[in-house]
Amino acid sequence: KPQLLIDTDPGVDDALAILMAAAHADIAGLSIAAGNVGLHHTVRNARTLVDLLGLGTPVFAGCAMPLVRAPEEDAAFVHGRDGFGDIGFAEPAAKVAAESAALALLRLTRERPGELTLVALAPLTNLALALRLDPDLPQRVKRLVVMGGAVTGHGNTGKVPAEFNIGFDPEAAHVVFEAFPSFDLVDWEATLRHAFDNAEFDRWLAAGDQHAAFFARIASTARRYNAEHERGGLVAADALAMAVALDPAIVTRSERRAVAVELDGRLTRGATVVDWAARLGRPAQANIVLEVDHVRFAAMVRRALGVPG
Ligand code: BDR
Ligand code: CA
Repeated sequence: KPQLLIDTDPGVDDALAILMAAAHADIAGLSIAAGNVGLHHTVRNARTLVDLLGLGTPVFAGCAMPLVRAPEEDAAFVHGRDGFGDIGFAEPAAKVAAESAALALLRLTRERPGELTLVALAPLTNLALALRLDPDLPQRVKRLVVMGGAVTGHGNTGKVPAEFNIGFDPEAAHVVFEAFPSFDLVDWEATLRHAFDNAEFDRWLAAGDQHAAFFARIASTARRYNAEHERGGLVAADALAMAVALDPAIVTRSERRAVAVELDGRLTRGATVVDWAARLGRPAQANIVLEVDHVRFAAMVRRALGVPG
């Protein structure tokens, strides 16, 4: 079974990714970032998930703000004001650990060098902070999988080519992209190519277990937004990244390229710049995931939702 450390800002698609992780892997910890909504909500949502899953997984609160500049937008308009569709869940029983997220990432990878796959589903603030404290972090993780970027400029934020996780904290993404000699990058454009048919997804939700019922509730706001914005089905960026983290063999098409982050740019701050023609003379550190086996991806999601068969 894969052993995961998940950095996340739950978030509806983060929740689906964590349900997948619980079904297919061991989760060593959830480190929490601000992003989709404020840190107060993302930490609470992570605790709600830990309650639902009945796990003892520790929840570590991370940075409430990006490294340098205040964010220009959050994603409450997609995920709901509280990030979980404004259902109004009761105060969760699961506690927040005393240790902060960046320190927990460093400690857990020291305790289990080479064992943990780091899955980054949020703005990269916590990882960047951890790297500044200890630049040897990359040597201690088995793999890093990042949900982020829009490799040919089809982003999902007010800065047209920027994807949300990178656009929220471009400096943090820059630090991470410079520090890791190799990582898998699952971008927004791959996410759009791997949307699920809405009617089919509804059948899974109806046939699934209590995890499916929970997901159906928190996802309704986000699904309405997607339908209104013609995203052509259920898009779940973090679930796709989680599938790649859980099973690298699911990737059917990828390209290894140098990827940098635009830190300036009136219209482009937060864009991921891919050196397609290798002009910059930088090492190609990113394995850009372009396509996965959609049937296997769907099977992993169905199992996480407790759909029989
Ligand atoms: C990413 O941004 C967030 O809204 C999602 O949870 C995902 O991590 C997609 O751009
Ligand atoms: Ca996320």
